[in-house]
Amino acid sequence: MPAKNVQVDRTSLSHRVRYALRHPERVPRHLARAARDAWLRHRWPDHIAYYRAVMRSDTRADPDAAVGSRSRERWLALGAMQFDYLAGHGLRPGHRMLEIGCGNLRAGWRFIEYLEPGHYHGVDISPDILAAAQDTLVERGLQARLPTLTPVRDLTLRFLPEAHFDVVHAHSVFSHSPLPVIEECFAHIGRVLAPGGWFDFTFDRTEGREHQVLREDFYYRTETLVALAAKYGLAARFMADWEELPHGQSKIRVTHGEGDAGSAAR
Ligand SMILES: C[S@@+](CC[C@H](N)C(=O)[O-])C[C@H]1O[C@@H](n2cnc3c(N)ncnc32)[C@H](O)[C@@H]1O
Repeated sequence: MPAKNVQVDRTSLSHRVRYALRHPERVPRHLARAARDAWLRHRWPDHIAYYRAVMRSDTRADPDAAVGSRSRERWLALGAMQFDYLAGHGLRPGHRMLEIGCGNLRAGWRFIEYLEPGHYHGVDISPDILAAAQDTLVERGLQARLPTLTPVRDLTLRFLPEAHFDVVHAHSVFSHSPLPVIEECFAHIGRVLAPGGWFDFTFDRTEGREHQVLREDFYYRTETLVALAAKYGLAARFMADWEELPHGQSKIRVTHGEGDAGSAAR
């Protein structure tokens, strides 16, 4: 029995009917979301603009739910899971960290508390969730840790310094991203990644046909993402021990590939 639900094609009619019969109470909410998303897609055909609008609507209702947590308890638990995994896999207080799609700092506040002042930089496409991130900083009394929070339009990372970040983290971001967005990130991440640095990201994994639901959730095969990273001189490793955690997504770690200028400088 695989740890994740990797065989399901959520776009198939049989899956949708079975799901609706199993969870009839979720049907009205799903239909409301589908109608809202159809309107937002019509209004904002570009994916980033569309997803920013989704985040605006979700954040206004509840910032914790907007980043995928049904309750404060789940928000705290999901942040702790991210932090504990990274701390157990090489994160040190002296590292400089970039968090892509930092949301309202579900994990970010823990990184900010742990890292030396000024060593955390969070970016997000949603100004609304970044305002909620400022609320989290205030709630946690972390102002003196001097984190940077920056709204972005894309993932070219062109305003960030070269070879600067030891650790880049993106949790539950590529699960909401079409492949060209992920490719843009891979094309540019090597420039900002320090020699010996790594980039961990989660994704929704399928072992069947790649698919998406409502342009909000994207399911990829591991080999697709590994090959895409290799195209940009990056080495990608599937993190099998993440699968043991109670989380629906999978994780990949990307480093400078052999022969890459970054690894040569190590
Ligand atoms: C599900 S939330 C997760 C937030 C945070 N990583 C966490 O675990 O709490 C996804 C976040 O990624 C942001 N996001 C989505 N696509 C992005 C992109 N292409 N670049 C930067 N941020 C993005 C969203 O605005 C949202 O804040």
